[in-house]
Amino acid sequence: MTLLPTVCVIGAGSSGIAAVKALDERGFELDCFEASDRVGGLWVYKNSNGMSAAYRSLHINTSRARMEYADLPMPATYPDFPHHTQIAEYFDAYVDHFGFRDRITFDTRVTRAERLADGRWEVSTDRGDTRSYDALVVANGHHWDARWPEPAFPGHERFAGVQMHSHDYAGDDPDLFRDKSVVVLGMGNSAMDIAVEASFVARDVYLAARRGAWVIPKYILGRPMDSMQASARIPFAIRRRAQEALLRLVVGDMERYGLPKPDHRFLEAHPTVSDDVLSRLAHGEIAPKPNIAELTERTVRFADGSEIDADVVVYCTGYRVTFPFLDPALISAPDNDLPLFRRVFHPDVGGIYFIGLLQPIGAIMPLAELQSQWICDHLAGRYQLPPDVELRADIEAERAAMFKRYVASKRHTMEVDFEDYVLGIRQERRRGERRAALAGHRLPIAPAVPA
Ligand SMILES: Cc1cc2nc3c(=O)[nH]c(=O)nc-3n(C[C@H](O)[C@H](O)[C@H](O)COP(=O)(O)OP(=O)(O)OC[C@H]3O[C@@H](n4cnc5c(N)ncnc54)[C@H](O)[C@@H]3O)c2cc1C
Ligand SMILES: NC(=O)c1ccc[n+]([C@@H]2O[C@H](COP(=O)([O-])OP(=O)(O)OC[C@H]3O[C@@H](n4cnc5c(N)ncnc54)[C@H](OP(=O)(O)O)[C@@H]3O)[C@@H](O)[C@H]2O)c1
Repeated sequence: MTLLPTVCVIGAGSSGIAAVKALDERGFELDCFEASDRVGGLWVYKNSNGMSAAYRSLHINTSRARMEYADLPMPATYPDFPHHTQIAEYFDAYVDHFGFRDRITFDTRVTRAERLADGRWEVSTDRGDTRSYDALVVANGHHWDARWPEPAFPGHERFAGVQMHSHDYAGDDPDLFRDKSVVVLGMGNSAMDIAVEASFVARDVYLAARRGAWVIPKYILGRPMDSMQASARIPFAIRRRAQEALLRLVVGDMERYGLPKPDHRFLEAHPTVSDDVLSRLAHGEIAPKPNIAELTERTVRFADGSEIDADVVVYCTGYRVTFPFLDPALISAPDNDLPLFRRVFHPDVGGIYFIGLLQPIGAIMPLAELQSQWICDHLAGRYQLPPDVELRADIEAERAAMFKRYVASKRHTMEVDFEDYVLGIRQERRRGERRAALAGHRLPIAPAVPA
């Protein structure tokens, strides 16, 4: 029997558990370290790891059929867009169904992962343990490190009210918004959910944005919007035209709701999904505003010169991609940008693999599952990467297309179209399988013989 590389997986959120399941099934020796006392990461409300962005009312905005792993459907009793408690239960059930909970070491945070001279990884945890592995799988999530406005708005230090980031909004403090004047900044999904929620209790809610967005309802023609995806074999321009036409028919122009006209075409920004925000705007319960220009002690002034009294400002300004356990000189993602081959393989550093480090138009989980199987193939010598020149050209081509298509923003550094990504990985795996066969299924990393 061939000795396989040993693997350390960092994180047991929905990405990490997909990796552990695949590695475990394929017979890899592995440890998974999880900072929390349970699996599910972001989907565990008030997670003991202190990292979850979930709020009490959170429901998924990618439909259940799109989000479930291919090898374990969500219960048929679940609604199309389940509550976070159901999603967290599903991830727990996944671990028990496939029986790999014992592979996860809970309440253990990786504090350092250092690449040794021989290419192995030395991993230290906050429990004081240090062990070495042949390969490192990084699944630490990318929606936990809050990105506040950069630079901070003039006057932010004078403002006497509350300034908070959406990451810290738990939705369980009845007094936070009650009878207050609330400014919510951003046009992403956090801003939509929080503005809507605030609008039911606050005195006034202002939704401030530096650019408009196409707001997509969860259902169109009685079906989850994301279930209407055309094949990746149909050119993107045609798919987009069809979806854009449907959206215009069902929702109409954003300006009709008082929102800014998007400065981009549909699918040139990460989707903003909300059934409720347009209705709250239509009811006058949310007032649209341009970007914040300045804060004073009691007021917020906007870019159009209008000024309002404000008690609370919620910055829904997204997240930073960080790896606190890696040497930033080796790997980091300045402005959220970490070029990877098909969002998994690092072009310069071997033996490290990223799972779930992408922003799909669609859900992350089935892609994490696919990536995990791909890594297993690679580590077992069944898939070989393309030659270096080809690999780098592929990364550059993918990045060039992404940056050309999407609005320039730190939130658009790893966008993929779900169907296209799946098709691309399938094709690439087939090519790599042929390369691996020609190379005699040589392992990419020679496992160190266990002591
Ligand atoms: C409010 C919100 C709603 C969202 N809704 C959707 C949605 O509807 N559909 C969708 O597809 N995506 C959604 N996302 C995106 C979200 O990133 C994914 O749903 C999913 O959580 C990604 O899983 P993950 O395992 O990659 O990351 P996480 O869920 O963040 O899990 C990472 C895990 O790694 C652990 N960890 C981190 N660092 C360490 C360390 N140093 N040592 C040990 N363990 C560590 C953490 O404890 C955590 O358990 C949403 C994001 C936000 C912010
Ligand atoms: N219900 C759900 O399932 C749900 C709920 C919340 C979040 N999510 C997911 O969580 C992830 C993060 O979403 P998010 O909404 O928190 O963040 P996000 O998608 O990164 O959106 C950040 C928003 O803030 C704006 N912004 C950033 N910096 C700014 C600044 N300095 N001044 C003015 N505006 C600024 C961005 O504008 P630009 O576009 O101009 O950069 C954008 O509108 C996404 O994947 C999202 O789908 C899902």
